[in-house]
Amino acid sequence: WTPFDQPTLPADFLLIAHRGASAYAPEHTLPSYQLAYDLEADYIEIDLQQTQDDVLVAFHDETIERTTNGTGAVSDYTYEELKALDAGSWFNEAFPEQKQFQEEGIVRLEDIVDEFGKEVKYYIETKQPFTDGQLEGQLVQLLEEYGLLENVAVTRQVILQSFSEESLLTLHGLDPDIPLIHLYHFKKEPAELSADEFDRLASYASGIGVNQSALTRAFGDQAAEWELDLHVYTINTYSEAIDAYKKGADGVFTDNLLEFIDPLDNE
Ligand code: G3P
Ligand code: CA
Repeated sequence: WTPFDQPTLPADFLLIAHRGASAYAPEHTLPSYQLAYDLEADYIEIDLQQTQDDVLVAFHDETIERTTNGTGAVSDYTYEELKALDAGSWFNEAFPEQKQFQEEGIVRLEDIVDEFGKEVKYYIETKQPFTDGQLEGQLVQLLEEYGLLENVAVTRQVILQSFSEESLLTLHGLDPDIPLIHLYHFKKEPAELSADEFDRLASYASGIGVNQSALTRAFGDQAAEWELDLHVYTINTYSEAIDAYKKGADGVFTDNLLEFIDPLDNE
């Protein structure tokens, strides 16, 4: 709901569907991404991990307890083993007021791009980068195979993100045209980077992702000075997005896309 007497977000402000439309469907499952598409997110966000048999899967935690009926690390299982797990029932139990989901499984990145092609834009996080760059290599190869990197600096069909500078440098080496976002979680708030750190970051990344609680106007001004995009996580109300915008954000990661739908658009 956008009150008429409140400021509104500009049309180019990015709404990034955090783990899909994850307030309304189990995160990282196909229904979650389908809903994000239906709700016209600018990007669908995918956390990426590698299975024991080197398959790229959409999954946030290093271990599988929270969102499946299994136990242990993602990297301890083959994709076939992970695929057999129930990745939806936890959501039904945690959110009984929401639509219920049956037999949702862990999906591969390939399944997601197969499903949506160029109909959506992808904002993919290398969650578990390995020092040998294998995950990054596989990721870039898959995106190339699906034609998602054609003229990517202009189309921004794909944005890649990581908390790991090493992973971002590997990706930059593989294809310097891919827009990269360096993620930070500033535990010691407010957000602060030195001029040298901004210089270094700007040499390979096109922007910064930052936790909402650490964002300040001064940090937003610095990001603008270095001509870096600034995306903020995780924001679930319109008023918080307005606050982030006023501090210099160009977009937000949200679980809650319905918060951003203007009721007048649907009349
Ligand atoms: O990728 C931005 C934001 O999602 C980082 O936090 O833990 O949800 O991956 P996390
Ligand atoms: Ca993420």
